[in-house]
Amino acid sequence: MKDKLKLDRSMALFAEAQTLVPGGVAGIRRPYNFVQGEYPIFFDNGKGGHITDVDGNEYIDFLCAYGPIIIGYREEEIDNAVIEQITQKGFCFSLTQEIQNELVNKLREVIPCCEMAALVKTGSDATTVAIRVARSYTNKTKIARCGYHGWHDWCVEVKGGIPQKLYEDIFEFHYNDLDELETILKANKDDMAAIIVTPVGHPLAADVQMPKPGYLEGIRALADKYGCLLIFDEIRSGFRCSIGGAQKHFGVTPDLSTFGKAMANGYAIAALVGKEEYMKVLADKVFLSSTFFPNSDSIVAALKTIEILQRDKVLDVIAAKGFMFAGQVEKVVAESQMPVTFSGAPWMPFVTFPKDDTGLYKKLRNEFYTQLIRRKVFLQPYHHGYICYRHTDEDLAYTVQAIKESLAELKPLV
Ligand SMILES: Cc1ncc(COP(=O)(O)O)c(C=O)c1O
Repeated sequence: MKDKLKLDRSMALFAEAQTLVPGGVAGIRRPYNFVQGEYPIFFDNGKGGHITDVDGNEYIDFLCAYGPIIIGYREEEIDNAVIEQITQKGFCFSLTQEIQNELVNKLREVIPCCEMAALVKTGSDATTVAIRVARSYTNKTKIARCGYHGWHDWCVEVKGGIPQKLYEDIFEFHYNDLDELETILKANKDDMAAIIVTPVGHPLAADVQMPKPGYLEGIRALADKYGCLLIFDEIRSGFRCSIGGAQKHFGVTPDLSTFGKAMANGYAIAALVGKEEYMKVLADKVFLSSTFFPNSDSIVAALKTIEILQRDKVLDVIAAKGFMFAGQVEKVVAESQMPVTFSGAPWMPFVTFPKDDTGLYKKLRNEFYTQLIRRKVFLQPYHHGYICYRHTDEDLAYTVQAIKESLAELKPLV
């Protein structure tokens, strides 16, 4: 049995933060999303695939800032390119710097559906403008959606503060279920503007799902049949499944698509990309503007990140590491004889405990993730992890062993 971590400074900072910020820290970073009392709440720094909390505990980090850290923390080549831009030119102006064009040309080169792009700051910006473009182009209102698409009114799960009329034209469907989607499309066929779906299924606290054979092609065909646009939300899969996203990897091209997270290794940038015919409504009919959208610090970071991804074949390395890691964890999971599953290979590894009637799975989940964090492996109980380029073979081997030991600690509970 490993000892509980020393987290005094995290806890003291959190107590203070609760008097300063509602909930202490924002949304998914709150303690109830981990194991309360066992996980740190504040980090101090990160380097490569490791992070250190404010109490000095160092972890192997598999959450990767919820996705943006595709290469590693404090990647000097990227940070130096940004510093050069800031010190040599500046990055925040009343007009746009020419580097915008360079990034969009690069996006056009690597992303199959990208003929034009609009640069924004967050994934929520990108998905929300995607919906606006689809509604404007089609002159229709209704949206079928599958997956998490951000915090905006039309899609957020927690409905506090949102009038029903703002989401009553949105219909949710389950990943890998074409029949359910078609039922929605049929019932609303005269007013469907778009289908928005994450090309890899990653529902909260449940196994990551890869598309069944024919699933993405089937959605493409349904969008065409019912005259609505197909939007792939690639905020997690973009610059991860391949440089051109899951659409490139699985060979199915949507009409519009959103990218963010891994695009700039942590710098705040996201994009709506798509076919010119649809994107052009942004030139006149649809308003999109925000003070920081054109800032070039993150544009430089995106260009440098994509350059490194291409030059060093980073995503091939990540996929190879992910498959190797998955193979080893699957073996450990099978040998444990516990009610536990492993999914998400190679990009989004996730150890989950399938729901049961007695609620035992909750105890197992809590204990498992408690044991893991005590072994200094940072993963989230309700969210899949990520493999980054700087995770070493030693990091992965250590983590397989930590998972094995943590599963063994569950025996007294079953
Ligand atoms: C698939 C997907 N879409 C959209 C978003 C929203 O992105 P952001 O948190 O950058 O607003 C997320 C964030 O996790 C996401 O995973």
